Amino acid sequence: MSKHLISINDLTKKQIENVLNNANKFFAENKNKEHNDNPPSSKILVNFFFENSTRTRTSFEIAAKKLGYKVVNIDISMSSLSKKETIIDTAKTINAMNPNFITIRHNSSGMVKLLSNYIDNASIINAGDGTNEHPSQALLDLFTIKQHKPHINNLKVAICGDVLHSRVARSNIILLNKFGAKISLIMPQTLITNQYQKWVKDKWNIDIYNNINAGIKDADVIMMLRIQKERLSGCYFPSMNEYYKLFGLDHNKLKNAKKDTIILHPGPINRDVEISSELADDNSRSLILNQVESGIAVRQAILSHFDT
Ligand code: CP
Repeated sequence: MSKHLISINDLTKKQIENVLNNANKFFAENKNKEHNDNPPSSKILVNFFFENSTRTRTSFEIAAKKLGYKVVNIDISMSSLSKKETIIDTAKTINAMNPNFITIRHNSSGMVKLLSNYIDNASIINAGDGTNEHPSQALLDLFTIKQHKPHINNLKVAICGDVLHSRVARSNIILLNKFGAKISLIMPQTLITNQYQKWVKDKWNIDIYNNINAGIKDADVIMMLRIQKERLSGCYFPSMNEYYKLFGLDHNKLKNAKKDTIILHPGPINRDVEISSELADDNSRSLILNQVESGIAVRQAILSHFDT
């Protein structure tokens, strides 16, 4: 069994099923206000985040505390990184303090994998590395989908938006394919490279669309992706207004999908860029806040899986 969760590929299909089954149990317990969380344990989780986060960092903290762990949030601006300590020396220093878990978010793809070479006392959870992967997000996305569409095999999932810069898309492509979902990708042609197209077409037989109405036709699930402004250097599309007009989802475009299509977005959302405000707030179709709620239970299950 892998010690770390750096990629979805660190988990077998069977292990993922076990994690999601456990998450079901945690989800039900979390709904029950009478339920007592675990008693305090000596386990420690360190949140080591180099990029901003609301959902991932907070839900790992809540999940860990529900399991009885202690949580330390490292403030990067107050750390010795600001005194030019290298990130590897900082990682070795945290490792020497013997925490049980370290969640790491970094803007460089591959940084979490690199740091795992210097951390042997803790399990590392990749909380998002650049454009590479965000495995706990994909697992909570699948958990949320399964609550509404239990049979994933042949389920049509349309992933729309900034595919090029989305670690959420990459983890979901790997994960949903393990369970037999039929994925389509929708984006402006500038937001996917030839190499990426080859990867998804050759390896996963994924259809690619540059037209949202065609791409979401017959979709059971539409996963909208955030435009990653912090990663856009140069001009990928003329304006946010034009992007919204062509690729943003609203109630009108949604008529092209099935009547019971559900909508996901990992958040944070850019209102009236990826999704209309009205649709984002329409709880009959949009599961954005359900995903946040699922995130606690799924992260409890992830931590329990790696708690050896
Ligand atoms: N979805 C997600 O990773 O959100 P945060 O950046 O708020 O953690």
